[in-house]
Amino acid sequence: MNNFRFHAYTDIRFGEGCIKDLNSAMLPFGKKVLLVYGGGSIKKSGLYDKVKELLSDFEITELAGIEPNPKIESVRAGVKLCKENGVQAVLAAGGGSTIDAAKVIAAGACYDGDAWDLVVDPAKIGEVLPIITILTICATGSEMNKNAVISNMENNEKLGTSSHDMIPRVSFCDPTYLYTLPAMQTAAGTADIMSHVFEQYFQKNTGAFLTDCISESILKTCIQYCPVALREPNNYEARANLSWASTLALNGLPTAGKGGAWTCHPIEHELSAYYDITHGVGLAIVTPRWMRYILNEKTVDQFCQYAENVWKIEKMEDKFCMAQKAIDRTEKFFKDCGIPMTLSELGIDEIYFDKMAEKAVCFGGLENAYIALTKEDVKKILKMCL
Ligand code: NZQ
Ligand code: ZN
Repeated sequence: MNNFRFHAYTDIRFGEGCIKDLNSAMLPFGKKVLLVYGGGSIKKSGLYDKVKELLSDFEITELAGIEPNPKIESVRAGVKLCKENGVQAVLAAGGGSTIDAAKVIAAGACYDGDAWDLVVDPAKIGEVLPIITILTICATGSEMNKNAVISNMENNEKLGTSSHDMIPRVSFCDPTYLYTLPAMQTAAGTADIMSHVFEQYFQKNTGAFLTDCISESILKTCIQYCPVALREPNNYEARANLSWASTLALNGLPTAGKGGAWTCHPIEHELSAYYDITHGVGLAIVTPRWMRYILNEKTVDQFCQYAENVWKIEKMEDKFCMAQKAIDRTEKFFKDCGIPMTLSELGIDEIYFDKMAEKAVCFGGLENAYIALTKEDVKKILKMCL
């Protein structure tokens, strides 16, 4: 088991009605607030009005229209508003895209140069305004982590940046806000949660038994509750369990004592950077192909552990057969959730595969992945996804 640092920095306010404490939770950070949100779902759901009512004694500047796969132009607009209005704290109401944009806005507000510098080089992130979030889609775990992923479509780059100071101070997670999520966002969000776990679970064997058990529990939660949430969008138990799973999947817990570069995320980020696709959909397509590609003598035991503990597949004499069964079940699960499972269905062909593979290896540091991958390996995996 590797050494690690675990600092639970975010004050999580979880459950129906938790928003009632928004005013008192925000007060310590100052009353000049930038409210950041997306394309309008919070207006339709009534959350926008609720926030305005609860913060009626605050001075609120607004930045609407954060797009899925948030763009650097939106971040720059937010930084400008912060600087012009002397903003003291940034409140993000939405999903990972809105929260990620809010994080880099909060960092950019304290930085003299262009915000894109902070995406390319996290070392340039210095002071960061306090960030508070209200979560409306469970997927990324951004509500309790230090990461932000921003796109620059001018040069087809979608890059992750990170700073301990970008971890939200307070996050409100009310599962009833998830009731209005379209089925595809529910399914894609679940695929994202599962992929976060896979990226941390399938790493070199480090004897991190407890961490693996936590990962397996998060995966089982997704497998049990995503179909329920798809059938019954207003099922509180299903939404609540998926929401907590998403927070735990990427808050440092499933990587405690483990480590190593991720694989499917850098590959998917290239797909999004070129085609602006939904992150979780890209991951669902890439993941089973990656699993098949890296299944070998070194990895088969971890796949058998996954098969037995997550899918309850009985032990088999042929370990490869058992591992293959678990991979098939994973693929079928995503398909049954309604996710398109080939790149062709998204209108993607192999024209940019060469460039995408090169950038995935470079930005993802894939030489340090569970199974190290070269550009040629990534191209082969992408071709398997067509
Ligand atoms: O923009 P609005 O109108 O709010 O609509 C959003 C958006 O269209 C909609 N939505 C959100 N909550 C809703 C809702 N619709 C109805 N009812 C609700 N309650 O859902 C759509 C997708 O929202 P988005 O924020 O893009 O989803 P998600 O949370 O999946 O975020 C994806 C982004 O996060 C990045 C991804 O790459 C992608 O850019 N990631 C961030 C990570 C992190 N910060 O740690 C890690 C992840 O691996 C990921 O890379
Ligand atoms: Zn993800």
